[in-house]
Amino acid sequence: MTEAHLLKQALRSVVSGQAKANACAYRPGWHLAPPVGLLNDPNGFVQHNGRYHLFYQWNPLACAHGAKFWGHWSSLDLVNWRHEPLALAPSEEYESHGCYSGSAVVDKQHLTLIYTGNVKYANGSRTAFQCLARENADGEFDKIGPVLNLPLGYTGHVRDPKVWQHDGQWFMVLGAQSLDLQGKILLLQSPDLLTWQSLGEIAGSGLNGLGEFGYMWECPDLFRLAENDVLICCPQGLTAEPHRYLNTFQSGYFVGELDYQRGEFPHGEFNELDLGFEFYAPQTTLSEDGRRLMIGWMGIPDGDEFYQPTVEQGWIHTLTCVRELTLWAGKVIQRPARELQRLRGEKQTWSGTAQQAPHWDITHAEVEIDTDQPFSAQFGEALALVWDGEWLTLTRINRRTNQPETRFWHGALRQLTVLCDSSSIEIFINQGEAVMSSRYFPTLPARLTLAGSEQIALSYWPLANCMI
Ligand code: FRU
Repeated sequence: MTEAHLLKQALRSVVSGQAKANACAYRPGWHLAPPVGLLNDPNGFVQHNGRYHLFYQWNPLACAHGAKFWGHWSSLDLVNWRHEPLALAPSEEYESHGCYSGSAVVDKQHLTLIYTGNVKYANGSRTAFQCLARENADGEFDKIGPVLNLPLGYTGHVRDPKVWQHDGQWFMVLGAQSLDLQGKILLLQSPDLLTWQSLGEIAGSGLNGLGEFGYMWECPDLFRLAENDVLICCPQGLTAEPHRYLNTFQSGYFVGELDYQRGEFPHGEFNELDLGFEFYAPQTTLSEDGRRLMIGWMGIPDGDEFYQPTVEQGWIHTLTCVRELTLWAGKVIQRPARELQRLRGEKQTWSGTAQQAPHWDITHAEVEIDTDQPFSAQFGEALALVWDGEWLTLTRINRRTNQPETRFWHGALRQLTVLCDSSSIEIFINQGEAVMSSRYFPTLPARLTLAGSEQIALSYWPLANCMI
């Protein structure tokens, strides 16, 4: 289909569906959600001349996965976002089944997108091209086309290029699947973004002391944090354990040291980035003021997603809040980007026994809980958080199976920061030592109900609604 035709279809879908999507009570007040259709991975997160650009995997035509477009938002402050014209539509043969995930860099003052052209054939096989597009003077993206074909030794699952500059050279990490069906991360180098040379596999199933660790690794990201290198990736195919790897697919990181000459990345153990029900495919960028910022998809591509009630309103999924990353004692610490504090209304504080706490309206709110004593919290009627002095558990009823499901954190609890936005919740534990992110669909307006006979100190801010 021609680009003009695809853009027309997308526009028609937005124009006819947007009012219905906006009328949905579960529409977020300040998280990013697609105008209509399905959103998944954040792509091309970058700051250029002061303005943040954030692209996303978007099917504007249906609440279904399929031939993805790149949607585009921009913002000066990470709080107020404007939707920009569609950046990429899957119009060419080399991207016939989707302009899949990728990243953005600024090359000679031009915003440049590096993404995967996904191609599926009638016999069920597939291939992938890593492609380039550059912003022109009109703010549109001109496609340059494939700059890398499928490397030898891998299946058609090679995708999600994340590119950065180091010592005057460009480097790329790519998610891949070897012919023996093991998930890998490839490192490549280029002087100009146009020609790429392979430096080999730097991590993956069966490498660096890891045993079998998944059949495919998606959405890698590699960056410097506090004099270490951090590799984020999304391994698929890990076996669930009683208290971890409980989502269908995982998203986590390794801390190590990348040897650019040898193409080696000795690293420590795999840590999950988020312990909630929905978190996947995060991407980071370095802000102009030197912060490592991350945003993820508050979803998992596992089919359960389509039981979410927003599908009836013609839209599905949101991104997480933007988070600032630091490294402490070998672990990635995540805190909500400081800019989000601008959304706060008047602060209320309260202390006493948990069960006497006010039933604050948490539809769009931030709640801070300071305690190390056992308590439980009910967010609307849809999510229960329990701290028993040893385990923090988050429980909800799975919308597909109608059975309860639980996620876990183990440690010494001191503090929680909870961000609620009508149908999502992000729970930051001990100032970001761990996070649990989830969608939930409470009766609105949602109320907070605490239980427990121990002392608890609370702070509460209503959060402004800046999306609709
Ligand atoms: C992760 C992912 C990527 C792919 C994209 C397609 O959610 O599967 O690997 O590029 O989504 O939308």
